[in-house]
Formats: sequence, C-alpha cells, structure tokens
Amino acid sequence: MQWLRAAGTLAGASVVTSLPDVSELPALGFDGWLRWFDEAAVLTMQSVPDEGVAIFFQSDVNRAGVWVDKGAMVARAAERAGMVMLFHKIVCRKPPGTLTYGRASYSHLLGFARVLRPTLRRATPDVLPDGGVQPGVKAMGVLACVDACRFVMTGTTTRTIVDPFCGWGTVLAVANALGLDAIGVDLSARMCKRARRLSVTVGR
Ligand SMILES: C[S@@+](CC[C@H](N)C(=O)[O-])C[C@H]1O[C@@H](n2cnc3c(N)ncnc32)[C@H](O)[C@@H]1O
Repeated sequence: MQWLRAAGTLAGASVVTSLPDVSELPALGFDGWLRWFDEAAVLTMQSVPDEGVAIFFQSDVNRAGVWVDKGAMVARAAERAGMVMLFHKIVCRKPPGTLTYGRASYSHLLGFARVLRPTLRRATPDVLPDGGVQPGVKAMGVLACVDACRFVMTGTTTRTIVDPFCGWGTVLAVANALGLDAIGVDLSARMCKRARRLSVTVGR
C-alpha cells in the first residue's frame, strides 16, 4: 500500500492482482480486513492510468455458512474509484459439478477501467473451465493469468504488468513469458524471493 501511494499513477502499466484473504491478515479481524480490502482495492484501481486496466483474481470464502463475495467487494470498490467493469469471468478451480462443501470451486476474474472500452469482436470466454496450475495454495492459476495478460496485450497499449500483492509471482512470470515487463511487490520478502525465481512456459 505504501509502495502504491509512493508510486502514484503507474504510467504505461496495467495491474493484475489478487488481494489477500482474511486468513492471510488474521491480526485485522474480519471487520478490519473488510475495511482493509476495500481500501486496498480502491488504492490499486486509483493507481492505474487511463490507458490501463485493473484485473483482480479473487476467490470467495465461506465463514460459518455465510458467503463473502469478493467479486462484489471489488465491484463496489471500483465504483468508488471511478472505474467500470469490462468483464467478469468465472475461473473453475474444480471441474464443474464438483461438490466442495463451502470451499469455492471457482474464482472471479474481473477487469475494470476508467476510460478504455473493449471491442466485443475480441471477446474471450466468460467461463474458464480450468484456471491452470497454481504455483502455491493461494496463487492464481497460470491459465487465468494468460487470459488476463492477453486482455492487456490486445485491449490496451500498456506493456507492463504490476502486481502489488504478488505472492508466488504467477502473473509476473506469465507476463514475462508473453514478452511483457512485470513489477511485483509483496509485504513478505520471502514471497518476493520466490516470485523472482518463478518461471513458466506458455504457448504464444
Ligand atoms: C493471495 S496472495 C497473492 C497470490 C499471487 N497473486 C500469486 O499468484 O501467487 C496475497 C499476497 O499478498 C501479500 N500481502 C499481504 N498483505 C500485504 C500488504 N499489506 N502489502 C503487500 N502484500 C501483502 C501476502 O504476503 C501474499 O503473498
């Protein structure tokens, strides 16, 4: 968050990220995490330049029988940040039809922009049947990252992907494999080291 504030507008870049779950920030408590998530989502979107997009990969959680819809949370933050939704995709984490008893079998992949509007001729599927390999438990799937990076490549002039909560560095590695520059930031120095080491192969 400090890095985002200091960086200001990320000229020439789009953001592809996945904000941490409440389980990753236990010291905040649930209500504190809700406020933190909202602030982080708004700040992230405000950092995106007019020529870029903000893409979020988020997985819902179930707390004692109550679903916490992170797709809706990011969408509400976008309204406050002055952005509109360009797409909302569902990424399957398990084959459709799998019963998972309160663990979301899907993730949301949501794209937002202030100015850009995509051409529907370049539309890609709304449901990704397989998000791809996840380098870590809370990591994004490689195929979901490919989808997000390709959207940036075809729908924007930005050629740098920023992930301010980069974790294992999945989207950074995918961006580099597709020929894009990538900048990752994480509170954990250990995750930053991991992210630097990650490399993936993707078909162009
Ligand atoms: C959901 S994981 C990101 C996973 C990543 N997108 C990937 O594919 O590997 C969230 C990351 O946010 C980091 N994090 C938590 N709080 C943070 C903060 N205040 N600033 C930056 N990073 C933070 C955690 O260390 C964790 O690596």
